[in-house]
Amino acid sequence: MQKRLKIGVLFSRVRVEEKWIFAAMEKRGIDYERLDDRTISFDLDNPSKWQTLDAVLERSISYNSGLYALRTLNAFGVPTVNTAMVAEICGDKLTTSVMLAKAGVSQPHNVVAFTPEAALEAIEAFGYPVVLKPVVGSWGRLLAKINDRDSAEAILEHKATLGSVQHSVFYIQEYIKKPGRDIRVILVGDRVLTAIYRKSEHWITNTARGGEGELCPITPEIEAISLAAAAAVGGGVLAIDLVEHPDKGLVVNEINHTMEFHTAQPTSGIDIADEIVSYTMDVALANSH
Ligand SMILES: Nc1ncnc2c1ncn2[C@@H]1O[C@H](COP(=O)(O)OP(=O)(O)O)[C@@H](O)[C@H]1O
Ligand SMILES: [Mg+2]
Repeated sequence: MQKRLKIGVLFSRVRVEEKWIFAAMEKRGIDYERLDDRTISFDLDNPSKWQTLDAVLERSISYNSGLYALRTLNAFGVPTVNTAMVAEICGDKLTTSVMLAKAGVSQPHNVVAFTPEAALEAIEAFGYPVVLKPVVGSWGRLLAKINDRDSAEAILEHKATLGSVQHSVFYIQEYIKKPGRDIRVILVGDRVLTAIYRKSEHWITNTARGGEGELCPITPEIEAISLAAAAAVGGGVLAIDLVEHPDKGLVVNEINHTMEFHTAQPTSGIDIADEIVSYTMDVALANSH
């Protein structure tokens, strides 16, 4: 008889997505353990406790906690969804961009600089408006649309003086005149499950910032760029954010490796949580042989 698989779910706070994931686990009768990243610790001399898990699904809100947990688990030989390597790439916008560039996937024009002076020079070369983003961040926080040299100088000085070490990496991007929306594509393994438009009057369309979800038909172009983007970063369970660029067509804005889908699931009517659980079971099964 085949051994019963055991799954861990690493989380920080039980958001609606985690509720749906736990419900899907229970509905399928899966043996799973809830791992709260605020209470767990890894004893590096005693990996065996963790090695009883056939796979771990990572849903941490903290990028750092999630990333280090994945690195530790992968080193212990425990497979994870997603892998530490994918988290490393997707959790950092610059690393994502370099991987997309390497794979030839269409994306906005990006430049990176390491001092305010070099950043200002790059911004001036771009022309205005231009977008400055922290390399690690989410929910549209600390994104800056810079409309002129005065604001460029002010923002760069504020970042240099008040920002943490991360803000000394200046990730500069062309501002895209998109049609009041972007597209969030939900991808699991080699399948594009669904896509939603996120519409907003504001240039930042995150649903966390008030953007509204609407079903977006999956065109062959959307499917092709999403699959190419997923392959470029190592694949898994991903949300690929696309922007409709007036000249370049679809471009990949960013890829999220622990995505929220509180809007995509009800909008599409697809049980995304169950698809993620099913994929995690496949990963566990592949490892248990
Ligand atoms: N270069 C850009 N031009 C126009 N809109 C942008 C650009 N970059 C980001 N946005 C808008 O801001 C939102 C958040 O940007 P994103 O890079 O995904 O940051 P976060 O990781 O905080 O979600 C995007 O979904 C998009 O609507
Ligand atoms: Mg985003």
